Amino acid sequence: MPLTIIVGAQWGDEGKGRVTDLFAAQADVAVRYSGGDNAGHTVTVGAERYKLHLVPSGILCPGAVCVLGSGMVINPEALLREMDGLAARGVDVSPARLKISRAAHLILPCHTALDAAAERARGQGAIGTTLRGIGPAYTDKAARGGLRAEALADPEAGAEQVAALVAEKNRSLTQLYGAEPLDPQAVARQFVEHARRLAPYLADVSLYVYERLQAGARVLAEGAQGTLLDLDHGSYPFVTSSSTTAGGAFAGLGVGPQWTARVVGVAKAFQTRVGSGPMPTELHDEVAQHLRGTGANPWDEYGTTTGRPRRCGWLDGVLLRYAARVNGLTEIVLTKLDILGGLEPLRICTGYLLDGERLAEAPLGAEALARCTPIYEELSGWTGDLQDVRRSADLPEAAQVYVRRVVAIAGVPVAWVSVGPERDQMITIDEESSHD
Ligand code: GDP
Ligand code: IMO
Ligand code: MG
Repeated sequence: MPLTIIVGAQWGDEGKGRVTDLFAAQADVAVRYSGGDNAGHTVTVGAERYKLHLVPSGILCPGAVCVLGSGMVINPEALLREMDGLAARGVDVSPARLKISRAAHLILPCHTALDAAAERARGQGAIGTTLRGIGPAYTDKAARGGLRAEALADPEAGAEQVAALVAEKNRSLTQLYGAEPLDPQAVARQFVEHARRLAPYLADVSLYVYERLQAGARVLAEGAQGTLLDLDHGSYPFVTSSSTTAGGAFAGLGVGPQWTARVVGVAKAFQTRVGSGPMPTELHDEVAQHLRGTGANPWDEYGTTTGRPRRCGWLDGVLLRYAARVNGLTEIVLTKLDILGGLEPLRICTGYLLDGERLAEAPLGAEALARCTPIYEELSGWTGDLQDVRRSADLPEAAQVYVRRVVAIAGVPVAWVSVGPERDQMITIDEESSHD
């Protein structure tokens, strides 16, 4: 069964981009199934680093056709900028390599303006969104008032719809938020330019993926954000507005679950979060500084999309087990194990205390999660750099024990561990050695 789904198992930025790039070398089709340019997926190929926001991370593997799926929200201006940037670096982004679902929704300047205005209005209760217009675009989709990518097929007719939508959103911007209105005709003119360039890329993605699957192709579905940012299953309301979990892949592609072979969860060896909302294992001490880094290394914990410093803490095993459940993970890729080197002791959260009660499962809802105190298990750390290790047997004993504990706590095998951002900095963990 040829569909592999890659999903973030935490609050995003787990390393999905580099894992997708690795898997895409064996894929015929690589599809992004949800989200928009709130995502920032880093792929490192030798000296080259690519930051992908909308284009699937499979684009650097020439054998994979890349598809922007129906569950996505696409800002045409951001997409064209990204495509031009890739083309300038010699990456093929022609319609033969890249397809856009006609059913995906469009993010227009009125959505980004509304995102900013709504965040300002939330004041202290701000979500800390990426300000890319994600929430307002998905709101329009759910309210059945949004514009789909199919509007790009007829630039002039689409422009009229765009002008009408901007005029409507201007009422919210000015009357609800006291913000400046946008010029509907200027936005519509810009749309015509974008549409002329993007129209050749439009495709019926459900049909395309189905036909490729029927013909025996291997399809890779790349998730964005992470399980704990899922609209239904994340720490609501501090979430994004899409289905980031494995179930979202079927809706976002328009194919059924019977094709699925594997659901690969990408998790960091520790926990990070960017934006507001509860994070039981968050630290504010020198351990947090160690995990975050100073910004000197490209992998230090500063947002790929916004540059914001990420909140850091110990690995939350309760939430990892939760992610394994809601996604039906078949395996985990544990990233950034190298970063734990030099910390003594290491900790993994295995339960919570809430109102004097011990919890083994995460409570539902952000309010209860915010009141949880983590219960930690302590493990020995290791010294030395793991970045040159390529075989699991060559990992320090303490690192092997750490990985085995993650397997036991998550209840899912760790199939790979990464020790650096490069393609070859990935260690296969055989099932035998991953058990206590
Ligand atoms: P994504 O959004 O899930 O694709 O993740 P991001 O690209 O936003 O953030 C992950 C960061 O960690 C990127 O800078 C990656 O290059 C880097 N990275 C991924 N795996 C490893 C690893 O094993 N070790 C180190 N040091 N960096 C890694
Ligand atoms: P990748 O794909 C980490 C967070 C934002 C904010 C919340 C809502 O790179 O892992 P939004 O702009 O989506 O309305 O913001 O979700 N967020 C991410 N955090 N990685 C991401 O993407 C994220 N995309 C959104 O910080 O807390
Ligand atoms: Mg990211």
